[in-house]
Amino acid sequence: MTHLLIMILTAACACNVIQVVGVHANKRRPKHGRRGHGRRSTSMRAMPSPEDLFNNWLDTRVDDVMLPPNDTGGLSTSETTPGMLPPDDSGFASAAHGDGVPAAPSQLPSGACGPILVVYLTYGNQKPTKTLAEVQGFFWNVPTTTCLTNFNSIPPWDRPQCSGFNHSLHHNSWGVAWLESADVDFFEMESTEDPANWLQGGFPDLTAVATSVHSQAAYQTQFSTRAYKHTMVIGPGSTYATTAFYPTTEWYSGFSQYFGNAVTWQTFFHEIGHNWGLNHAGGYTSGGTFQEYQDDAIMGYQRSWRPTDTNVVARYRLGWITGADIVEFIRGSDSIAVNLSPLNEGPDGSESLLMKIPCDECVGNVASTTSVGALYLSFRVADAASFYGVSASHTQSGLYDKYSGSLLELVDRVHVHFQPDVSSATELWSTLAEGDTFEISSSTMWIHVCSLDVATFAKVSVSDTSAAMAQIGCTPAPTLAPTPAPTPSPTPVPTQVPTPAPTPAPTMAPTPEPSPAPTPAPTPAPTPSPTSAPTPSPTPAPTQVPTSAPTSAPTPAPTQAPTPTPTMAPTSAPTPAPTPATDAVTDFSRRRHHRRQLRRKYRRRYRRQRRRQHQPKRRRQHRRWHRRQRRRQYRRQRRRQRRH
Ligand SMILES: *[C@@H]1O[C@H](CO)[C@@H](O)[C@H](O)[C@H]1NC(C)=O
Ligand SMILES: *[C@@H]1O[C@H](CO)[C@@H](O)[C@H](O)[C@H]1NC(C)=O
Repeated sequence: MTHLLIMILTAACACNVIQVVGVHANKRRPKHGRRGHGRRSTSMRAMPSPEDLFNNWLDTRVDDVMLPPNDTGGLSTSETTPGMLPPDDSGFASAAHGDGVPAAPSQLPSGACGPILVVYLTYGNQKPTKTLAEVQGFFWNVPTTTCLTNFNSIPPWDRPQCSGFNHSLHHNSWGVAWLESADVDFFEMESTEDPANWLQGGFPDLTAVATSVHSQAAYQTQFSTRAYKHTMVIGPGSTYATTAFYPTTEWYSGFSQYFGNAVTWQTFFHEIGHNWGLNHAGGYTSGGTFQEYQDDAIMGYQRSWRPTDTNVVARYRLGWITGADIVEFIRGSDSIAVNLSPLNEGPDGSESLLMKIPCDECVGNVASTTSVGALYLSFRVADAASFYGVSASHTQSGLYDKYSGSLLELVDRVHVHFQPDVSSATELWSTLAEGDTFEISSSTMWIHVCSLDVATFAKVSVSDTSAAMAQIGCTPAPTLAPTPAPTPSPTPVPTQVPTPAPTPAPTMAPTPEPSPAPTPAPTPAPTPSPTSAPTPSPTPAPTQVPTSAPTSAPTPAPTQAPTPTPTMAPTSAPTPAPTPATDAVTDFSRRRHHRRQLRRKYRRRYRRQRRRQHQPKRRRQHRRWHRRQRRRQYRRQRRRQRRH
């Protein structure tokens, strides 16, 4: 029914953000007269998309996420305390910092991560804007072929139906987390209280909603049946509102609300992300100002042309990137290189997914918390086959380099994220192409992209010393190259000659035997005589005589006529002659013969080697002899001369 409506205005006003085209942005655009990025439609009257509405909500509200209230609205009488410390890999393990509260490990999404209670709330004839079936669809829908191949041909208002929370959760976590239908209870509840009572400044207030819903008998009955981790209130009426609490140990932990057109899978993921302890995904605008929702990620603004996913920091915090997939830079290192697989591919590849660079001196929108602030490197590619990912067109990114202020390309780039504290908003600082060197100016660190192959990995080298060292770090250990060269040249001569001889086929047995014996002196004398004698006599006799006799004569006969007679006769006849009796004996003598042959072979080889080894000595002796001769001759001549 409508066109794509998102337009990014780079307004230089106080709200330097991705703005929404529509009623809201209409008022602003002419006023500031700024050029739009990624402008898709000239129709200013068109209805804003669900994504536009969400972005507008973020822009017009202080926040869509609330800290656990202390004792506002009678919610809590006790002090809010952070939950238990979650597992190490989530990164939430370090104590509660920043403005968020780390999630308890049991709240982090892993496995079939329910149970979730979805309260489909009505009040008289006031109903949610979406049907219960549509709400269920935003959990269980999976992308159709059209969604995967021609997403932008689908009208903006139908696009959210292309997927569901479960599919995106499973995709983003690479199968670590998902939802089973038995883990999500859709509970239709008639409110006993007028939703009008919950309005604050014209919008439903989460604290008021949670308090009211929680106090109602129907809810209590349902809530007591299972240990629900989340309560998602799908509220009645058309006023747009969506909010969630950060994790807490209080009863309202895991509460979130969705009113009006806020009911989409993207919003579910974003708000539940807050329940899990995630903060917003931000970036820098053209004016160099930090915007807390600017990143192309599920915890940032929604994009109507490409479903977003979770950035590398969020996946790390949720415990989906673990073990060898994380390479931590050791501060003070001249350089450390890492191969990063595309983030979408997940942990299956042989390369890592994340390099974490601790950076206490890094300063983004806020300064680092000591021993917590860090930079996070990941590799993003244009993953057309995937339903989710970053925008392929840089004109749509709306993201700018923190230092240079240039518009950032998001695909086929190494992304540099910063997070000052465990629960702080993430900041996209830059994206790097092959050959780029990014200097962290507040620190003494350089990040250099050595190579970048979208089909395999990006190789990144980080130095705490200099830009040159970061680049040198691309070529692994230059010292190794020169050292192998000198050593091989002297060694090959002696090693290669003797080694091929004993190693190949012959067993260990024959070599030691013959070698010690012939070496000393007797080699020249005894060996020639025995070898010449035995070898000719046994070998020609058995091989030539028996074989020619039976094969030429008997074979034609037996095959044509009676087989039993001729075959028996020739076989028994020839064998007894050369080797007495049984096969075992023949075999034995054959082996003995073979051993003798081998021994002879080795003796011959050994003599050859000795000769070769002794040649220089002989030559030396020879030269000495010559010198002596010459000296004698010379003396003789002198004597002769003296006599004359
Ligand atoms: C809760 O209390 C802390 C300090 O005790 C305060 O900083 C914070 O603003 C309070 N939060 C609310 C929502 O009142
Ligand atoms: C959620 O997604 C997972 C992974 O694709 C799937 O196994 C599961 O059946 C889905 N749940 C429902 C209820 O469709």
